[in-house]
Amino acid sequence: MSEKKKALFICLGNICRSPIAEGVFQKTVNDLNIGDQWEIDSAAIGGWHVGNPPDWRALDTMKKHGVPYTNTARQITSADFNHYDFIFGMDEANMRDLNKKAPKGSKAKLLLFGDFDPQGDRIIRDPYYDSDASGFEKCYQQSVRCSKGFLEHLEKDTDVHGFEKCHHHDQ
Ligand code: 4NP
Repeated sequence: MSEKKKALFICLGNICRSPIAEGVFQKTVNDLNIGDQWEIDSAAIGGWHVGNPPDWRALDTMKKHGVPYTNTARQITSADFNHYDFIFGMDEANMRDLNKKAPKGSKAKLLLFGDFDPQGDRIIRDPYYDSDASGFEKCYQQSVRCSKGFLEHLEKDTDVHGFEKCHHHDQ
């Protein structure tokens, strides 16, 4: 079989949103029996939580929906930009940071995960400072829709140029 496709999910701390996105995307491809075609990970923009498991509300949300998750937080490295095919940010601040950090000419496409939501809810907002877990549930629901939406997009349009359409966020 051809080389695996590689996807990296990014958020600010890698303890709330990107672990959920990673876990949900992994479960989505596993359930479609295409898990062996993908290499999937998540990472942080910042280094504050490196080595920590996700926030308990993220773990609870995944458990509730049958999404297995055992990874711990790490910070994105410059090598990631040439290793991964797709790097997904959760909000506009993530996209600005990713565009700043990307070494010139690196391979990864920097994509806003929410651009693949068929309901058009483009921003996966940071629920870290919320007083309850509802933002985590919303992140889960968005991740389910965006994972399916992205896979459908890939199926329809494997041409690299297809992704330029999704770059509403880099102006
Ligand atoms: P995340 O949420 O980016 O979805 O993991 C955050 C977690 C921690 C912090 C910010 C956002 N923090 O500043 O520590």
